[in-house]
Order: sequence, then C-alpha cells, then structure tokens
Amino acid sequence: MDQYLQGKVAAVTGSGRGIGLGIAKKLAEKGASIVISDVNEENARNGLAQIEEAGGKGIYVPADVSKYEDAQNLVDAAIKELGSLDILVNNAGINRDKMFHKMSLEDWNSVIAVNLTGVFHCMRAAAGYMREREYGRIINISSASYLNGNIGQANYAAAKAGVVALTKTFAKENGKKNITCNAIVPGFIDTEMTRGVPPKAWEIMVGKISMGRAGTPEDIGNMIAFLASDEASYITQGVFEVGGGMVL
Ligand SMILES: NC(=O)c1ccc[n+]([C@@H]2O[C@H](COP(=O)([O-])OP(=O)(O)OC[C@H]3O[C@@H](n4cnc5c(N)ncnc54)[C@H](O)[C@@H]3O)[C@@H](O)[C@H]2O)c1
Repeated sequence: MDQYLQGKVAAVTGSGRGIGLGIAKKLAEKGASIVISDVNEENARNGLAQIEEAGGKGIYVPADVSKYEDAQNLVDAAIKELGSLDILVNNAGINRDKMFHKMSLEDWNSVIAVNLTGVFHCMRAAAGYMREREYGRIINISSASYLNGNIGQANYAAAKAGVVALTKTFAKENGKKNITCNAIVPGFIDTEMTRGVPPKAWEIMVGKISMGRAGTPEDIGNMIAFLASDEASYITQGVFEVGGGMVL
C-alpha cells in the first residue's frame, strides 16, 4: 500500500462518524497520524479504535468547534502529542432545517456557529503555526447548497457559501507561505445525516446522480487524501465536487 502521507499529522473535525470518520480512516491508511476530534466522545473513541485496529496511529482530542478554546486545544494537542499539524480537515457540521419563515434565530445561530465560525476557529488556531513552518494543507467541507441554495436550508446554505468564500480568501493570503486551502462539495453521501431522508426522497436524490448511487465517506476520503499529498502541492483555492456527477 502506498503510504504517501507517512510522517504527516492530520486533524479531522467531526470525525467520530460519517464523512469525517471516512476521511480520517483514509488519511490513516495513507500513513498520516490522525487527530480524531468530535463532540461525541463514544463515537470518536470507536473511530480511533477502528483506525488503530487497521494499523493506523492517532489520538482523540475532544473539540466543539463552535468554541475557540477547543479549536486552539485541538491544534496544540496535535503539535504536542504527535509532533506537528500538517493537514487540517474542517468537516464538522450540523443541520437545523426549516423553512425560512419558521427559522428561529437559534436555528440560524447554531448552524452558523458550527458550520462557518467553527471552520474559522480551527483555521485561525492553525494559521500562525502553518505560516511559520511554511507548510499546510487545509481542506474544508462545503455543500452543493452553497451555490444554488436549498429549500429549508437557509442557515446551512449560507454557512456553506461562507466556507467557500473563507477558503478562497485564505488561499489567496497564504499561497506564498506554501499553505494550500481547498473546499470539497460532497454530493449525496450515505451517512447518518442523510439516512433520515424518507425513502421516496432518497430515490429522487439518487436519480440525480450519474453514477446511480449515493456516495460513501470513503469516496470523499480519497479526494481529501489526494489534496493532502505532495502531488497536490500546486492545487489551491479550488472548489471540487465529489458527487458522482450529481446534478446540482
Ligand atoms: N452527507 C452528505 O450527503 C453531505 C453532503 C454535503 C455536505 N456534507 C457535509 O459533510 C460534513 C459531514 O457530514 P456527515 O454527513 O458525515 O454528518 P454526520 O452528522 O454523520 O457527522 C457530523 C459529525 O460532526 C460532529 N459534530 C457536530 N457538531 C460538532 C461540533 N460543534 N464540533 C465538533 N464536531 C461536531 C458530529 O458529532 C458528527 O460526528 C458536514 O459538514 C456536512 O455538512 C454532507
């Protein structure tokens, strides 16, 4: 197996389950040491155990990304316990879907706090360190709703559009410091987040996908591992769809 991320340290937020865990497993498979981080300790510890059983290495650091202190602690723990922080994947996300005219300020604030401010917190906590070392790979998870909006997801779509703007701005500011920053737009991925969708809606979603199936967390992990690799050293400021040809 080609362990092209050997010697690298990667932190993945919200990696106790779903896409985040898929990303963490893939980066570990490619040789990176992993910081598994989540608000759900049980899931995170299970995820870490799966990585270790497969021969990977990592630590668990609890972090609620909506709190700056937790983001700073995540970065500090990676550096102190694993020796560095080379790859940061901002994956943690929630949804509180409601039609706009019924959306409360709490629905709005909670989604912005995790899905947008959480990304700012982790990037802000890592930026000084990465700039000093003149090395970094940051990959942020956006969503197709960032471009076209999505009914019931004003808060989520606004946050995910913000993630793309933040990604591009950070990339512009830090290219000369050898830090790449890219965003991924997953299509329809089979996780706990999407499993709540009624069977009829699931069928409609899959009907929009050229490949004829929902994506897997591993599909997203494959792209992230590439963007974290040396081969991707000239790829920055990008927004990449990984959706099996889903019509957005
Ligand atoms: N599943 C999809 O089809 C899809 C499509 C587009 C984008 N996304 C995005 O991908 C990311 C992962 O989605 P998923 O489907 O795996 O969801 P998921 O709900 O299965 O997993 C999200 C993880 O984030 C964690 N989390 C929630 N709040 C947190 C916080 N404040 N701090 C740290 N961790 C927190 C959860 O505990 C959970 O482990 C999200 O950003 C989501 O918006 C998912």
